[in-house]
Amino acid sequence: MMISKSRNPAEHPAAGRTPDARSHHHFRGSLGRFATGVAIVTFDGATKRHGITVNSFTSVSMEPPLVLVSIARSSKAHDELAGRPFTVNILGAEQRQLAMLFAGRPGPDPVWVEGRMAPRLSGVLAYFECRPWAAYDGGDHTLYVGEVADFDYRSGDALAFANGSFTTLPESQLGMEDLL
Ligand SMILES: Cc1cc2nc3c(=O)[nH]c(=O)nc-3n(C[C@H](O)[C@H](O)[C@H](O)COP(=O)(O)O)c2cc1C
Repeated sequence: MMISKSRNPAEHPAAGRTPDARSHHHFRGSLGRFATGVAIVTFDGATKRHGITVNSFTSVSMEPPLVLVSIARSSKAHDELAGRPFTVNILGAEQRQLAMLFAGRPGPDPVWVEGRMAPRLSGVLAYFECRPWAAYDGGDHTLYVGEVADFDYRSGDALAFANGSFTTLPESQLGMEDLL
């Protein structure tokens, strides 16, 4: 299925017309076939602490160490994240409830850790504390790139997301860096 590309949704040829619901659904379903991990971006905004569940985390560069997350313009976190340090918390298999909490579902209060650059969540599988590096237009999202200032990981199974569902990635399939 062809989808025309445009940097600005307002310039899209279909702008202003009734959205093609089937094409939208099919596009989402096609994207969902790409299995990912699950992360929560945490940071202190002007007046409150934010957290947003994402699966758009990507490693970008080794030198300098850069990572990115794609954040919806419609989310509460979007505007406040601009120019602020943030942490990407990579979730372990037992942290589905935390993923849903920061996707807007009710749940128990999280346990916070005060990081060097930004707040982070206790017990996560890995984390990357970032200082803001750049922000790029990504249509109805913004691509926030951070320079990694601190990071660590623990052992354990990873939380994964595919076809709209959470699943577990056993640790036995991780840790291949030791073999390089
Ligand atoms: C598994 C999963 C992955 C998600 N990935 C993203 C993402 O990459 N970017 C994004 O903006 N929202 C993503 N979301 C949706 C946000 O978590 C959700 O819309 C957000 O928490 C809503 O926050 P708000 O109501 O405070 O604006 C994801 C949700 C889930 C459950």
